[in-house]
This record gives sequence, structure tokens and C-alpha cells, in this order.
Amino acid sequence: MFGRNVTVVVTGAAGFIGSHLAQRLLRQGATVLGIDCLTSYYDPARKRRNLETLASYPLFTFLQRDLCELTAEDLPCGPLLISHQAGQPGVRTSWGTEFAEYLARNVEATQQLLEVIRRCNVERLVFASSSSVYGNSETLPTHENLVPRPISPYGVTKLAAEHLCFAYGYAYSIPVTALRYFTVYGPGQRPDMGFSRFIKSYLEHEPIMLYGDGQQTRDFTYVDDIVHANLLALTTNVSGLFNIGGGSRVSVADVLDVLDQIFGYQVKRTHQEQQAGDVRHTAADITAAQQHLGYGPRVSIAEGLERQVAWTRQFSFL
Ligand code: NAD
Ligand code: UGA
Repeated sequence: MFGRNVTVVVTGAAGFIGSHLAQRLLRQGATVLGIDCLTSYYDPARKRRNLETLASYPLFTFLQRDLCELTAEDLPCGPLLISHQAGQPGVRTSWGTEFAEYLARNVEATQQLLEVIRRCNVERLVFASSSSVYGNSETLPTHENLVPRPISPYGVTKLAAEHLCFAYGYAYSIPVTALRYFTVYGPGQRPDMGFSRFIKSYLEHEPIMLYGDGQQTRDFTYVDDIVHANLLALTTNVSGLFNIGGGSRVSVADVLDVLDQIFGYQVKRTHQEQQAGDVRHTAADITAAQQHLGYGPRVSIAEGLERQVAWTRQFSFL
């Protein structure tokens, strides 16, 4: 699938999605250069563990570098496929003084990466965009043609980064694919995200903190489906913008009902007000990804949650 002379550069390789993607690429025989600066958005020890796994593959090399400081000498000269997963995630924490990090890690880092790779032999750039660019979308499921109106600073920076990728792609003839992921979950999910926090509450018999009434819905997407979409995007000769969703829209309250069944007991649910920046509903229209990339989600929410719970039980010391 990946030629011996091609290097796949995975930025954010130590993170949740980047580490899954890098491992799948390595299993398929690709030569992978991972780049990450191990930010302290959450405990970098988790990222180091991800890197330990990747380091067991002979075709993996790692560069610890902030993309804002990337130079041409950091990249090999041969043909490159670039998978740009690095970024500052998290919708609710992007207000106030934190915004500077969102600007640096989502916008400035992307621009510096683009400045470096525009002088390289890049076969394709795939960018990890986000459903948060849509804001409170008027139509569900949401099509890529809808005018994006993000309602969080995070969403604004992801949209800016997406536009930067297409601007450089247009100016310097780089084939670009942006994938708008919808709330990704599965083993290794970031500890600040909903499912990670809910599962921890069940394991520790601690109350769950629900933002708002719990009736907000998400098109939750299993991480292997996200990885599959990335592989398709890297290897298909189609540029453009694609929603990548999990195939169904589920409320947070329904997720907790599934967890009740998996654990066989309930934990107390406490409520906090809806958080600034949180959208009410998301749903991906994935027609374009189906038609042009051959993408289709394969893992249901029940199965995916089972797998995340099993993983957390095994690695609960993290
Ligand atoms: P993550 O925080 O686990 O991974 C991101 C990685 O990028 C981290 O390891 C971090 O250290 C690294 N990084 C950040 N800034 C960097 C910089 N300037 N230079 C080098 N490395 C840097 O997050 P994730 O959940 O795996 O998300 C990966 C990407 O997918 C992000 O761009 C995020 O915006 C996007 N995304 C995630 C979701 C989701 O539900 N997880 C949904 C939509 C989009
Ligand atoms: C997620 C990621 O964190 C973002 O980085 C990403 O860009 C975004 O998906 C996306 O799809 O683009 P979010 O949908 O907020 O953002 O994902 P979670 O943190 O898993 O939250 C899911 C839902 O659970 C939200 O409605 C949130 O309000 C709720 N939640 C979360 C709670 O009720 N309690 C919690 O403790 C955590």
C-alpha cells in the first residue's frame, strides 16, 4: 500500500488519534516519522507510553519538536505523505488566556508546517479538522457545503487551520484532504473527553458530571473508523473536504444507559450548566466520504464503548 521510498509523516503521533494511526500505518509496512512536542494539555506520560509502543516497530522514527519550530532539515527529502494530527484539542477549555495555546498549536503550528512542506515533495497532506467548525448547525445531518459558524474559539482555530491547508495547497500545488472528525472515542481517548470521564466515574463509583440536561447528541466516531478514513484519504487520489462520522447520533444520556448495562450498575448523575462552546447536536452527512473515499463506519457505539471500557480496566493505572 505504501511504497518503500515514501515516508508518512504523522504530526501529533504521541496523541490519542495520531498514535492509533501511526501504529496502523506501521502494521501495514509504512515508514513513519512521528513528530510531537508532548504538550502538557494532559499528562505527557500517556503520550510517552504511546511512543513506547510505536518504538517497537523498526520503521518508526520519532522527532520531539514543536511544529512552530520545524525546519526543512527535520524532514527527509524523499516523497512524503503528511498526516497532520497535531493540535490543541478540547472545545470547552479554549476561552480566556488558554486561547493563546489554541492559536499557537492549531494555527501557527499549521502555518509553519505548511511553510516547510511547500518546499518538499509532498504527495498528499491530510488535515485533522473537526465537527466543531459547524457550530450549532441548522441542518442535521450536516453537509460539508454548509457555511461553518463555529461557536467556540477552538472551532475558530480549527477552521482557520483548515483554510490555511487549502490556501497553501492551492498556491503550491499540494494535494490536500481535510477530514472533519466527529467526537472520537475508543481505547486511549483523551482523559478530558466525555467517555473517558464517564468510565472513570463508573470504575471509581464517583458521580458523573453531566453538562446541561444530557439530551445533547453527538455523532460519536470510533477511533479505528477515523484511522481507516485517514488511510483512505492518504491513498486515494481525491482532494477535498469530508465529514467523518460514526453513523448514528446518540445522546449523552443514552451513552450512560449503555454504560449502565456494561457495568451492571448505575452511578449518580449530577448536573452542571451547559458549557460555553458546547454545541447542542452533531450529525455527519458522510455521503461525500462514502462516494469519494469509500469510507463507512464499522464499529457501533455499543461495541466501541465495550472496547473502551475493557481498555480502561486494563490500563486504569494511567
Ligand atoms: P491529542 O491531544 O491526544 O493529540 C494531539 C497531539 O498533538 C498531542 O500529542 C500533542 O502533544 C501534539 N501537539 C500539539 N501541538 C503541537 C505542536 N505545536 N507541535 C507538535 N506537536 C503538537 O488529541 P486527539 O484527540 O488525538 O486529536 C488529534 C487531532 O484531531 C487534533 O488536531 C484535534 O483537533 C483533532 N480532532 C479530534 C477530535 C476528537 O474527538 N478527539 C475530534 C475532531 C478533531
Ligand atoms: C470532541 C473533542 O474533544 C474535540 O477536540 C473535537 O474537536 C470535537 O469532539 C469534534 O467533534 O470536533 P466534544 O464533542 O465536546 O468534543 O466531546 P466530549 O468531550 O467527549 O463531550 C461529549 C459530550 O459529553 C458533550 O456534550 C459534553 O458536554 C458532554 N460531557 C463531557 C459531559 O456531560 N460531562 C463531561 O464530564 C464531559
